[in-house]
Formats: sequence, structure tokens, C-alpha cells
Amino acid sequence: MTSRWCLLSTLLLCAPALARAEDAAALWDKSCKNCHGPDGRAQTRMGQKESIPDMSRAAWQKAESDTELRDVIANGSPHNPKMKAYKDRLTPEQLDALVRYIRTFKAKE
Ligand code: HEC
Repeated sequence: MTSRWCLLSTLLLCAPALARAEDAAALWDKSCKNCHGPDGRAQTRMGQKESIPDMSRAAWQKAESDTELRDVIANGSPHNPKMKAYKDRLTPEQLDALVRYIRTFKAKE
């Protein structure tokens, strides 16, 4: 019983620290995909309902700076409470990794 609790709390405490930049894809799948879609195009129920921008659009990629993206992920969107602040759940490295990952969604033209 006690050892189970230990294992569980160790997992919960260490999970964010263990995640590396290369795990950005896994992080995206776990925490972001439900709303933003596997490819950032937000073709999801939440995406439609909340008009989440299509992150694959070149114009969107150009308009958003890394700093702006990081800020929304860290602090949530000032325009829509559905986009929550992740700064207490993710490390600074994970925030950076997610910004880089979002850049990979840019559609080839
Ligand atoms: C519960 C649904 C939901 C989840 C989960 C979610 N988001 Fe969002 N996200 C939104 C919505 C809705 C918006 C649009 C906010 C707005 O209109 O300003 C948004 C906006 C964003 C934006 C800014 C887009 C822009 O054009 O300014 C970024 C970047 C972003 N999300 C990244 C993430 C990342 C990274 C994750 C996972 C760690 C994540 N989101 C998880 C719903 C979600």
C-alpha cells in the first residue's frame, strides 16, 4: 500500500523533469492534441467550437513570434479561458520544446 503511494507520487513528481525536448511530440499528444489536433490544424470538436487557429498556415506561423507562442502556453490565452496556463505543469525546457514542435506544423508550400 505505502510503496504503491511512493511509486505514484515519485512518478507524478518526476514526470515533468524527466521529459526532454525530444519528447515534445509525446507531450503534444498527451496535453494539446485533443483541442489542437495531431497536426495543429485544430480540426477537432473543440477547435471548431472555439475557432482555434490552424497552426499549419504559413501566415499564422509568420504572425506569431516564438515569444508570443511561449507566453500563451505558459500563461494561457487572454482571449479564451479554454487555453489554460501550463507554466505550473511544464518546465521551461518543455515550453521551449513545444514552441519548436509547433513550428514543425508549418505546411509545405
Ligand atoms: C481544452 C482545449 C485546449 C488544450 C488542451 C490546449 N489548448 Fe491551446 N488553445 C486552445 C484555444 C481555445 C485557443 C485559442 C485561444 C484564443 O483564441 O486566443 C488556444 C490557443 C493556443 C495558442 C495560441 C494560438 C494563437 O493564435 O495565438 C497556442 C500557442 C496554444 N494554444 C498551444 C497549446 C499547447 C502547446 C497546448 C498543450 C500543452 C495546448 N495549447 C493545449 C485550446 C486548448
